[in-house]
Amino acid sequence: MNNLSPFPANLHCAPVSATEVIPIRHAVLRQGKPVASCYFQGDDAATTQHWGAFENGLLIGVASVYAVARPDAPDAREYQLRGMAILPEHQGKSIGKELVAALENAVKAKGMERIWCNARTGAVPFYQRLGYGCEGNEFEIPEVGPHWRMVKTL
Ligand SMILES: CC(C)(COP(=O)(O)OP(=O)(O)OC[C@H]1O[C@@H](n2cnc3c(N)ncnc32)[C@H](O)[C@@H]1OP(=O)(O)O)[C@@H](O)C(=O)NCCC(=O)NCCS
Repeated sequence: MNNLSPFPANLHCAPVSATEVIPIRHAVLRQGKPVASCYFQGDDAATTQHWGAFENGLLIGVASVYAVARPDAPDAREYQLRGMAILPEHQGKSIGKELVAALENAVKAKGMERIWCNARTGAVPFYQRLGYGCEGNEFEIPEVGPHWRMVKTL
C-alpha cells in the first residue's frame, strides 16, 4: 500500500475495497441497525472510490466518493462524498481531515470541479472547517436525521 498522506509514519490513507468499509460504517453510522443498511447504491460502480485511514495497519476510518451529481445539477462535473466515518476513539485527531483531503485529491485528479455531500447536521462544522459551504435548507433523511447539503469547489 502506498503512503499517500503527510501523516505520522504509523498513520496513512489509502484506497480500500467496497467490502472493507462496511464494518466501520456499521460501527459509526448505523449502530444497532442491520448490516444491510450499510451498503449504499453505487458501492460497486467502477467509478466509485473507497478510501480508508489506517493506524499501524488497522483500518480506523473510511469514506467513499461516487460519480453522482447533485439532483438539481445533473450535468455538473462533481462527485458525491458519502459514508464518512472515523471510529469514536480516533475522532478529533485530524484523521477525518486527512481522509477528505485524500478523496478530494482523487476526485480532482479525475478532472472534477466539485465535491458535495449530505452532511449530518452535527458534522456541518467539520465540513465547514474543510472549506465546504451549506446549500439550501436543513432537511431530514428518514431513519438517519437532519442533514445539510454541502459543496466545495476543488
Ligand atoms: C465527523 C467526523 C468524520 C470528523 O472526523 P474527525 O477525524 O473526528 O475530525 P478531524 O479531527 O479531522 O477534524 C478536522 C477539523 O474539524 C473540526 N471538527 C471536527 N468535528 C467537529 C465538530 N463536530 N464541531 C466542530 N468542529 C469539528 C476539528 O476541530 C478540526 O479542526 P482544526 O483543523 O481546526 O483542528 C468524525 O468525527 C465522525 O466519524 N463522526 C461520526 C460520524 C459522522 O458524523 N460522520 C459524518 C456523516 S456526514
